[in-house]
Amino acid sequence: MLLLLLAVTAAAAVGAGPGKAVQFLAVGDWGGVPEPPFVTPREAATAAAMGRAAAERGADFVLALGDNFYYDGVRDEWDPRFQETFERAFAAPELRALPWFVLAGNHDHHGNVSAQLAYSRHSERWRFPHYYYSLRLHVPGTNATARLLVLDTVLLCGATDDFGVGATPRGPPDAAAAEAQLSWLQRRLAAARHDRYVLVAGHYPVWSVAEHGPTQCLLRLLRPLLRRHRVTAYLCGHDHNLQFLHEDGVGYVVSGAGNFMEASQTHRAAVPPGAARFFYGAPESPGGFAHLRLDADHPTVRCRERY
Ligand SMILES: *[C@@H]1O[C@H](CO)[C@@H](O)[C@H](O)[C@H]1NC(C)=O
Ligand SMILES: *[C@@H]1O[C@H](CO)[C@@H](O)[C@H](O)[C@H]1NC(C)=O
Repeated sequence: MLLLLLAVTAAAAVGAGPGKAVQFLAVGDWGGVPEPPFVTPREAATAAAMGRAAAERGADFVLALGDNFYYDGVRDEWDPRFQETFERAFAAPELRALPWFVLAGNHDHHGNVSAQLAYSRHSERWRFPHYYYSLRLHVPGTNATARLLVLDTVLLCGATDDFGVGATPRGPPDAAAAEAQLSWLQRRLAAARHDRYVLVAGHYPVWSVAEHGPTQCLLRLLRPLLRRHRVTAYLCGHDHNLQFLHEDGVGYVVSGAGNFMEASQTHRAAVPPGAARFFYGAPESPGGFAHLRLDADHPTVRCRERY
């Protein structure tokens, strides 16, 4: 069985260096604010730390887990927020060189998500080809491959009022489109059985101990698929902290600390006993992200390292 290792503290040289691995940074809920300066101090600190992580540890790409533009997404593909909240905010040379694979969160769906797709034509690094899509990754120097399946969980489960207590998605805006996405996922998971790793990413959590907690719709639709297809890990944002959970061979990474940080663990009792392995949401923290590394023989996820 694949084991997800978790390092929660600074571990300067351990596992660092180039090596034969796929590596990426996963950051969610990073989308600044709609007034000048359009970035929060935490977004700026997270961006700087991501640049250092890419330089020191290595990264092949960034996975952006949604809520890319607070609070109402963007208007069109020329919206200045692309410059203010994205291009200028993540300006470290090490980050500029990386492709960003993007998915949409509930706040993006308040605005124009097709404009976020269209922005892929304007930016060297912004890659958002479709609401949901698949990437194949090769572990260099080996025959090991990884499949990354990127979902739109808002189209799957519906929008939410982000500030409502215990707000749950209201159900898909288009049931046929949600059904089509789900059957696409089922086909892709079946086709990925020869890939060494399968990662699934979406905005809403399956499991989370924090304020939003588990998403019932995803527990129903997604969790059985993740288990049946022995998915390595599900990555998400939405709750504003860093979490690692593990249930029945599947890792659950919550990385929603790119702009806000929340310590609340009101759904601690809503996850299976023993599943929650790591939580970090200290309000004084400058934000955070996860670093994932897929070696030919084991995956590693690191949260909350100091860069
Ligand atoms: C959304 O953005 C696209 C791309 O810029 C644009 O063509 C479209 O008109 C926008 N939709 C609305 C409702 O403004
Ligand atoms: C990859 O697979 C090919 C064909 O099966 C094999 O010849 C080669 O030795 C493999 N390479 C590695 C690094 O395992």
